[in-house]
Amino acid sequence: MHHVFISMDPGIDDALALLIALKCKNIKIEGISASYGNAPLEDTFRNSRDILSMFDREDIKVYKGAKKPLVDQPRFPGDVHGKNGINELQIPSSKAPVEKKDSFDAIYSAAKRLKGELELVMLGPSTDFALLYLRYPDITKYIKKIYIMGGALLGGNRSPQAEFNIFADPVSSEMLFDSNIKIYMFPLDVTMSSFFTEEELQEIIKTDNKAGRFIGDLTTNIMDFYLTHTGKKYFYFHDGCPLIYLENPSLFKGYNCTVKVESYGKLTYGKTICDLDSDIKFAGKKNAKVFLQVKREEFFSFCKDKFSSY
Ligand code: RIB
Ligand code: CA
Repeated sequence: MHHVFISMDPGIDDALALLIALKCKNIKIEGISASYGNAPLEDTFRNSRDILSMFDREDIKVYKGAKKPLVDQPRFPGDVHGKNGINELQIPSSKAPVEKKDSFDAIYSAAKRLKGELELVMLGPSTDFALLYLRYPDITKYIKKIYIMGGALLGGNRSPQAEFNIFADPVSSEMLFDSNIKIYMFPLDVTMSSFFTEEELQEIIKTDNKAGRFIGDLTTNIMDFYLTHTGKKYFYFHDGCPLIYLENPSLFKGYNCTVKVESYGKLTYGKTICDLDSDIKFAGKKNAKVFLQVKREEFFSFCKDKFSSY
């Protein structure tokens, strides 16, 4: 059983990733930290609560995480996920009590309670981790592993060299990779192969259950965004990858290596540099396992099966 605390910025793919995780037998969600990223914190916090309420899971608590990056100001991509983070949908408000504790205290108490079994899943900027680490430097003793959607060995989607989550706060991402906690990294190199075609997405929507209808409402615009930016009308399920790996690791192939983050470069700001294919390796122990391949057809069938089970 994976006891996980999920930091996310819903966000359309975050929302679908949460629906998948709720149906995974090997995943117990110990809590959710809502972070700025795809939208401001107040939107991602509300979205996290309301999505859990929509799927009758108000038993899972949502806490407020980071409001902005450690350095610089947040830059919200309103055109991808909508200004409110969920394609401008207005969904019923959660009636769950609003948690007074913030994410950092909540994660630390869960980590101590689970005596080193807690794992973090990061689906947005790394700021939540950095703020947790700054408040509780001994957290590294209690976090087993961290699984992130983020980074790009080749290319980028926020700049020609950087992926959105890392670009949002490279200083925090540097702290994450230098923390001595093993990082399981799902960069664009694998998430851009972890997609649903337009027809496959329609198959999911046409199951016409609560999940299918919600996914249909969420994805009316993002497919055209991807068509414009990638030339393919595919749904790239970036944030599904780390969680689906926890339930079915055989779908992905990963490689041990060292990853560093560029937090100063003019053109390379937010770049994740990996020594996997270099004959010059970074010194010290390998800090990451980077996943580069996915069995896409099986990945889609896995997701369709989970969404159909609602
Ligand atoms: O680059 C993709 C990542 O940025 C995903 O986490 C998506 O939700 C956005 O936050
Ligand atoms: Ca995200």
